[in-house]
Amino acid sequence: MPGPKKKLYIRTFGCQMNVADSERMAQVLADDFVLTDKAEEADIYLINTCAIRRKSEEKVRSLLGSLKGLKQRRPQLILGVGGCVAQQEGDRLLGAAPHLDLVFGAHGIYRLPQLVSRAAAGERPVDVELSRCFPEAPRRRWESPPARTFVTIMQGCNNFCSFCVVPYVRGREYSREPSDIIGEIGEFLAAGGQEVTLLGQNVNSYGRGLMEPVTFPELLRRVAALPGLRRLRFATSHPRDLSPDLIAAYGELPALCEHLHLPVQSGSNRILQAMNRGYTREEYLDKAARLRQTRPDLALSTDLIVGFPGETEADFEQTLDLMRQAGFDQAFSFKYSPRPQTQAAAFSGQVPDEIKAERLSRLQTFQDDLTLKAHRRLVGKVREALVEGGSKRSPVELCGRLRTNQVVNFQGPQDLVGRLLMVEITEAHPHSLKGRRAVGPPLS
Ligand code: 5AD
Ligand code: SF4
Repeated sequence: MPGPKKKLYIRTFGCQMNVADSERMAQVLADDFVLTDKAEEADIYLINTCAIRRKSEEKVRSLLGSLKGLKQRRPQLILGVGGCVAQQEGDRLLGAAPHLDLVFGAHGIYRLPQLVSRAAAGERPVDVELSRCFPEAPRRRWESPPARTFVTIMQGCNNFCSFCVVPYVRGREYSREPSDIIGEIGEFLAAGGQEVTLLGQNVNSYGRGLMEPVTFPELLRRVAALPGLRRLRFATSHPRDLSPDLIAAYGELPALCEHLHLPVQSGSNRILQAMNRGYTREEYLDKAARLRQTRPDLALSTDLIVGFPGETEADFEQTLDLMRQAGFDQAFSFKYSPRPQTQAAAFSGQVPDEIKAERLSRLQTFQDDLTLKAHRRLVGKVREALVEGGSKRSPVELCGRLRTNQVVNFQGPQDLVGRLLMVEITEAHPHSLKGRRAVGPPLS
């Protein structure tokens, strides 16, 4: 008879792609390991890392250092580093951290059972091979599915924006076969799932190199036609590749949520060109306007970088101006961080950190004001919310997500988690909304 399963702890840094990858790590190891949320009782401790900015990398290094004590107390513990820092650093990590047992990159996830056995036998394996196709994923099991899930439809990126490390650490772009994607989502929905987010670094260029060529809007149409799907989202889109057909899909597909994350990065044409983004501010604003013509209630969110090499005060003001014109509902903003191998790291005109910090703070204050105004417009409205969980603050408080992606907190019993229901928005805050459940049964 097999003994009790050993325990696996995963600490995830970074984006939704990493969250999806961590889920995959747990899955490929599920025959022998069960997930725990207590690091001290783990038999394997995996850190899924992010290399997008230096700060993300520093967090990983400091966590790794702080785990020396745990490894001393539990010498049998297998400590592994996966994800983008692993891909970038490879065996250099083993040299820097003698207590580390295992290093694996984006595609090494699927070889984890063998890698773990080798680590248990005292080897210190490093697997940062990037294969030349979409790695074969094991089938996901949906006994009791969460209300929403993330489905990876492509990996890697061919864009080489001059600031970005992703093409180096995630490799070239590979699309997953549509039949695999549809099969996985079909099973999720059949088990009672409601919301799907399609994931990739640049979903708009989905379909290149497939046996059966399918564009991203076509994929959306196929997914939206699956019975039981209530909500469909995707991330991330590149503005250059956002086609008229994708805009049309927003007019056709009711399941497609009225929210789009469309990273603009800067509002200055000079900086956009130096970033190698392939669009101008005018083209971006034109696409945003067309999207809103097609779906008037569309919420738009974005990513912004301040202090890119050569950015002047005038360039920065162009960014604030674009934010105002686009009327972003939400923005994620970052100080430019030079990354290894990227072109921009070698550009002249690097901006001093004090200026970056000052611009970031001005930009965030500006966006907080835009976000709060967007939130205030929702007060008094009744909106559909998918209940994602209980609130951390109170056992009778629930936390739901609107189709437009804002989070709303409201009172209700825990058995509503996973259900779709109508909520009246009662209060607007800068980072969330408060509401009350509208009368009537849940929608699902
Ligand atoms: N410095 C700062 N921000 C960056 N991003 C990507 N690379 C860098 C960098 N070198 C930001 C971009 C991207 C988001 C995921 O992270 O805004 O859209
Ligand atoms: Fe990085 Fe640009 Fe690719 Fe996005 S599109 S992952 S910013 S290189």
